Amino acid sequence: MNTALPTLIRQLQPGQLQPWRAGGMALVPTLGNLHRGHLQLVQQARRLARHVVVSIFVNPLQFGETEDYADYPRTLEADVQALQGLADMVYAPPMEAIYPATLQGHTRVSVPELGELLCGQFRPGHFVGVTTAVAILFNLLQPDVAVFGSKDLQQLRLIQRMCGDLHIPVRVVAVPTVREADGLAVSSRNVYLDAQQRQAAPALYQTLVRLAEALRARQAPVGVLESRAMQALQQAGLRPEYVSVRDGHTLAPPGDSCRVVLAAAWLGRARLIDNVPVD
Ligand code: PAF
Repeated sequence: MNTALPTLIRQLQPGQLQPWRAGGMALVPTLGNLHRGHLQLVQQARRLARHVVVSIFVNPLQFGETEDYADYPRTLEADVQALQGLADMVYAPPMEAIYPATLQGHTRVSVPELGELLCGQFRPGHFVGVTTAVAILFNLLQPDVAVFGSKDLQQLRLIQRMCGDLHIPVRVVAVPTVREADGLAVSSRNVYLDAQQRQAAPALYQTLVRLAEALRARQAPVGVLESRAMQALQQAGLRPEYVSVRDGHTLAPPGDSCRVVLAAAWLGRARLIDNVPVD
């Protein structure tokens, strides 16, 4: 059994990654504060490539002005420990390695349309921040494969689209959402929930599961079922931003197959997202 701690690299030196690339390299990009969900991504990465790199970078460009960039939990030491025996390298760059000059003037990578739907409507600029940072990480590290969680389905689809459109030769692989026993999707932001909110939080997943069942049973028109799901979330004490039935690949309005239901809702200061396949 491998019990080595991953090598922590803050600044990449020219050619430093050459030995890591031989035999294939998988990247798991993260904001840190690693939980069980991230570790599943890393385990999947291990199955896909000989060398596994986890990047940890709290990317300011993807946080809105009123969002939690300053408070986002930064737990590098614990993260490196959590990756013992799982990852070969942790790349935790300082800000200037990713954005050498001003953030305002930095080149951005934008996936229009797809980036403006769903969460994009409520978090202007967020996905441009994500795709910009991921494109930079892909260019710096040049992995063969990158692994992302399916909880952030819109992010996953955006990154796949970006790689296709920009001919970035990285294979993007998705891992199913990891859940707590009561169904709540594991997320770094769950730490913001107090005990009472934590009890209410599984309502998001449960509501989506019920909506998916109702859609399969064709209980009512889609719009009616979406509105009922919004009400159910409100009754459970959440503040939903949206509940939407979409095509699971394009996130466009759905046809009769490959549907997915997605939702975002606030609970206290935690913004929770989740999705459940229908078909
Ligand atoms: O999902 C995340 O943790 C982030 O959005 C990512 C992909 C690491 C980009 O900063």
